[in-house]
Amino acid sequence: YVTNGEGVQRADFVVVANRLPVDLERLDDGTERWRRSPGGLVSALEPFLRARSGAWVGWPGVADADVSPFTEEGLRLHPVRLSATEMRDYYEGFSNGTLWPLYHDVVVPPAFHRSWWNAYVRVNQRFAEAAAEVAAPGATVWVQDYQLQLVPAMLRERRPDLRIGFFLHIPFPPIELFMQLPWRTEIIRGLLGADLVGFHRPGGAQNFLWLSRRLAGLEPSRAAVGVRTKPGVVPFGDRVVRVGAFPISIDSAGLDALARRRDIQQRAREIRAELGNPRKILLGVDRLDYTKGIDVRLFALRELLEDGRVDPDDVVMVQLATPSRERVEHYRQMREDIEREVGRINGEFSRVGRPPVHYLHTSVNREELVAFYTAADVMVVTPVRDGMNLVCKEYVACRYDLGGALVLSEFAGAAAELTSAFLVNPHDLDGVKNALHAALTVDPAEGRRRMRALRRQVLTHDVDRWARSFLEALGSQPHTE
Ligand code: ADP
Ligand code: G6P
Repeated sequence: YVTNGEGVQRADFVVVANRLPVDLERLDDGTERWRRSPGGLVSALEPFLRARSGAWVGWPGVADADVSPFTEEGLRLHPVRLSATEMRDYYEGFSNGTLWPLYHDVVVPPAFHRSWWNAYVRVNQRFAEAAAEVAAPGATVWVQDYQLQLVPAMLRERRPDLRIGFFLHIPFPPIELFMQLPWRTEIIRGLLGADLVGFHRPGGAQNFLWLSRRLAGLEPSRAAVGVRTKPGVVPFGDRVVRVGAFPISIDSAGLDALARRRDIQQRAREIRAELGNPRKILLGVDRLDYTKGIDVRLFALRELLEDGRVDPDDVVMVQLATPSRERVEHYRQMREDIEREVGRINGEFSRVGRPPVHYLHTSVNREELVAFYTAADVMVVTPVRDGMNLVCKEYVACRYDLGGALVLSEFAGAAAELTSAFLVNPHDLDGVKNALHAALTVDPAEGRRRMRALRRQVLTHDVDRWARSFLEALGSQPHTE
């Protein structure tokens, strides 16, 4: 690091994301502590960045927190402050009440409010200022996700010397949906401030190229964009913006190693015993989000129990659900719906000490999570729309024993890679029931064959490869410590 005039340490590689990798938690007794932030973005980027000298600009997760920059296990963290009103209008409002549902196929109706948009502009401006202050001359700045789509252009305005990348961690929507957004042109112009704009899937890149013609009057390349092929290009003034598809992944080897640890294996056996040693365990692991289709898998399980195709003496479902965005109305409603459905299934099919559904509204630590993956016979991942979904990849990375089966929604980005899963259309309840049943009764040799194919994909395409391919396309390679 070098230090600028005001004493801020400047870095050659800077990640800018709405959230820092750690979240400030204010306890009831007034004390504060840091814990790992929720969600896939942090799961993916943290291991990559830890191995490099870099800085991370982000929000500490609570309103009105004045925290000075600090170093955590070698990572330089630069907190950005949000007021309570900004948290409501920028984070809960425009980010998670407008963009999140719009980009996830309007699973719930997005709301369009000018006051939310104004807050989004203001907060993006603040992140751009913070990044401009932290970045060393000629540095690479990698801006992340839908909360910060205006930052690339705002940052370029301040710091034309920087190399700027942008990656969208959620789906980029179909053009017809994106065009509903009153501020569609501003968003496209914001993203065009980057040297490289990355999406999970080629479809997202293609839509962005089309919109850069339609909304910004530019002349993008016409060749189809593929994964790991030549990116699309948009000539823009004296620059060229590149546009590509980079499917994100996980720290596959790290999880594989963790799953092989004897204490984790022991804990997995304990979990099975605590659940009453059922013949089969179904597992769901998600942020409590309406895109994840938690209701779909519960409906499927209830009907399988009603039809007598699943025996409640034999089969148990565990759902781990991380609390998420709890003040946003659609999230409250969905939580109530899911908890009612869990109560209904358990009310109808429990025996004393043997509920068919174990629902834990909590997040667990990494070791415990890996023990759950190891204990589970069937991993159930049924989002109605998901940019990638890392949970399914984590499950596969943990199954070095070639045990277990994966039921995966076609509407998760990961489905394009994990073609040996039991793929389902989450809108087709009979199809989901049949896939769950097939996964519960799969012939062991067939199950191993599928898992071997899944592991080949996940172990060779890890998060390091994702980050390196993005940064290579950006023409930058941060040095490894
Ligand atoms: P999203 O980013 O939308 O939350 P992903 O599946 O891409 O979805 O990433 C979720 C991440 O959060 C994964 O790394 C997963 O292990 C973690 N996670 C989700 N739910 C829990 C939970 N209940 N306890 C611990 N980790 C969880
Ligand atoms: C998804 C988003 C991330 C977000 C995470 C957790 O992974 O792509 O940007 O950080 O969910 O959501 P939260 O609103 O708690 O940050």
